[in-house]
Order: sequence, then C-alpha cells, then structure tokens
Amino acid sequence: MRKILITGGAGFIGSHVVRLFVNKYPNYQIFNLDALTYAGNLENLIDIESNENYTFLRGDITDEVYINSIFKKYCFDDVIHLAAESHVDRSISDPLAFAKTNVLGTMILLNNFKELHKNNWKGKRFYHISTDEVYGSLGENGLFKETTSYDPNSPYSASKASSDHFVRAYGETYGLPFIITNCSNNYGKQQFPEKLIPLFINNVLNNKPLPVYGDGNYTRDWLYVIDHAKAIDMVFHRGNIYQTYNIGGFNEWKNIDLVKLLCKQMDKKLGRSVGSSEKLITFVKDRPGHDLRYAIDASKINQELGWSPTVTFEQGLSETIDWYISNEHWLKNITSGNYQNYYMKKYK
Ligand code: NAD
Ligand code: TYD
Repeated sequence: MRKILITGGAGFIGSHVVRLFVNKYPNYQIFNLDALTYAGNLENLIDIESNENYTFLRGDITDEVYINSIFKKYCFDDVIHLAAESHVDRSISDPLAFAKTNVLGTMILLNNFKELHKNNWKGKRFYHISTDEVYGSLGENGLFKETTSYDPNSPYSASKASSDHFVRAYGETYGLPFIITNCSNNYGKQQFPEKLIPLFINNVLNNKPLPVYGDGNYTRDWLYVIDHAKAIDMVFHRGNIYQTYNIGGFNEWKNIDLVKLLCKQMDKKLGRSVGSSEKLITFVKDRPGHDLRYAIDASKINQELGWSPTVTFEQGLSETIDWYISNEHWLKNITSGNYQNYYMKKYK
C-alpha cells in the first residue's frame, strides 16, 4: 500500500486534496499531518474521517523530534506538502512565524524524507505546493512563467520562495525527487474567512463593511479550489520530477470588480434590493508592499498533462456563496473559535 503524507490537510486547500485522494485511491494510505493552528479545522473532513485508508496525525512540522518519529514509524513513500502559514496580512504582523513554519518546517520534512529514501529514490516523490506570489508583482501586462525570476515582496511570499529554493537545492544536492507547483489565488468552500472572498461573504451576510485595500485596482488570478486539487492529483501522478508547473485560472479580476460581482450575486441570493451590498464597500488604508497584479501562464501543465480549469468564475463564486449561506454554522463556529474544540471531542 502506497503511504502518502499530506501536510496541512485540515486547512483550506489541503482538505480538498485529502478528500480527493482518500475517496479516489482506496488502495493508498493517506496520512494527514496538521498542527491545527487557527487555520486548521477538522470539521472540514467529517465526511471522510472514518475511512479505513485515512489517518489523522496532529503535529507540528517544525517539531523535529516528532517528525522524525513519524517518518520512522510509517515510512511514508511520498509527501504532498501544503502545511504553511498562508495569509499575507498575518505575515506583515508576525513574519517570524512564517519563516519558522514555511522555511524551517519544509527543511525538516526534506531532511526526514532524504534520510528515509536516500539509498533508493525510485518511485518516490516530494511534492511541494507553492504560490505564484514568489514571482513578485506584474505590471499591467505579462504573465508568470515557470522561468520567471523569483522576486517576492511580502514576508509570506519571501518564506514560500525560500522554501521553494530549499526544495530545489535538495534536488540538486542530494538527488531528492521533487516537484513544485506555483498556483494562483484559490477560492471555494471552507476557506478561512480572513482571505478576500470568504471574509467579504461573511461581512455581507452580517451587514458589515467590506474593507477594500487602496483603490481596489489590484488584480488577482482566481482558481476554484476543486480545480487546484485536480491539478495536484494530476501532477502528483504524471508530473515529471525535478520540474515546476504553474497553475492558474486564466481568470484575472481587479479586486473592486470582483467585490461588485460578489455583492450582486449575494443581493440576488439573499433577496436584497439591487445595490444594497455594494453600499458596504469601504476603501481602507492599503496593505504595505501590496503586489499590483498576479497572473499565471498555465500552458506548461496544460500541454504536458492536459490540465485546465473546469469551473467558470461566475459558477464557482455562486457555488461558494451558496455553500457559505447554507453553512452559516460553520462560519459562526469559526468566528466564535468553537471549531477548535472539535479535535478535543473527536480525537481525545
Ligand atoms: P490554510 O492556511 O488554509 O491551511 C494551512 C494548514 O496548515 C492549516 O490546516 C494549518 O493548521 C496547517 N499548519 C500551519 N502551520 C503548521 C505547522 N507548523 N505544522 C503543521 N501544520 C501546520 O492554507 P491554504 O490556503 O490551504 O494553503 C495551503 C498551501 O497552498 C500553502 O502552502 C499555501 O502557501 C499554498 N497556496 C495557497 C493559495 C491560496 O490561494 N490559498 C494559493 C497558492 C498556494
Ligand atoms: P487575499 O485573499 O489576502 O490573498 P493574497 O493577498 O494572497 O492575494 O487578498 C486578495 C486581494 O484582496 C489582495 O489584493 C488584497 C485584497 N484584500 C482587500 O482589499 N481587503 C481585504 O480585507 C483582504 C483580506 C484582501
């Protein structure tokens, strides 16, 4: 049985990846390792937590002794590494936490993987999930390619860039078989309501202001999280080792236009008068070091592996809003902090 360690599986993207792998590959043993920081929520995985091929491990990737012990105990064949501190605004107020988890944590995983498999890499892979933010900011034109130089601007993107460099260095130096993917902004159900889309859905539901940073003319390339999980599945199984693949939605939106679309869809779904949610838009002080524009050229993964996004933005956004509206208890659990008791009830 192939034993796969997925880190950060209680988080937003990780939970979608864990669910996909547990359901699609009953002959794999999936180990979900997560520290359950504020961003980890095991309620995201209630539907698969009793599956025989699923094991949850609570642990911190920066805890060398613990990581060493689980590599010895389970001898994982592969790693899909998603655990990270992931929010740019938090990285501005607490950059050290990002260096610790994203850089040191990644190195501890790399070291353990190397020690376990260095005499026989055959069939093994260390798949590192990264972000397009490592490339820095685009101007009005151009796209990030796999060959674009790294130029990170926030402590978050600097820590992810550093972790990418270490992964590549382990490949060059020790032959460790890695793959890296750099993906654009994800959205979908079960995203922690600190990122733009779920925060604004929550605020519209509660008639709270929608804080748009600066003039709102910043651009992001949005991808539905299910399409990202499918790309990860494809790259893990068919991607070439020692390669990087960019993943994106071919879907650029200026923040202000996205927010207006979100407001329009929510007015309709909530039976509110046209334009009422837009009135909540409030322009606030800009984020320091705010990157103007991200946009991905995903032609390599498209041409080599046949991947392309399947869900249009209007459809994905509508489904996302529907999910938050019908799962207000999930949002309430998050905003009250009650979700953190779930682990205690279930696993202790
Ligand atoms: P998230 O913040 O929702 O989840 C992160 C998960 O990692 C949480 O479950 C958290 O408990 C866990 N974690 C944090 N620190 C840990 C530690 N020290 N040890 C063990 N577990 C720890 O993040 P996400 O949005 O799901 O992102 C997952 C990965 O994808 C990250 O590596 C991120 O950089 C990358 N990524 C995210 C996006 C995006 O738009 N969200 C886009 C591209 C790439
Ligand atoms: P975010 O979801 O934090 O993702 P990232 O910074 O990783 O791209 O933010 C997406 C965009 O939305 C980004 O340009 C910052 C902006 N933004 C706001 O204008 N207001 C907000 O409250 C947040 C959280 C983000």
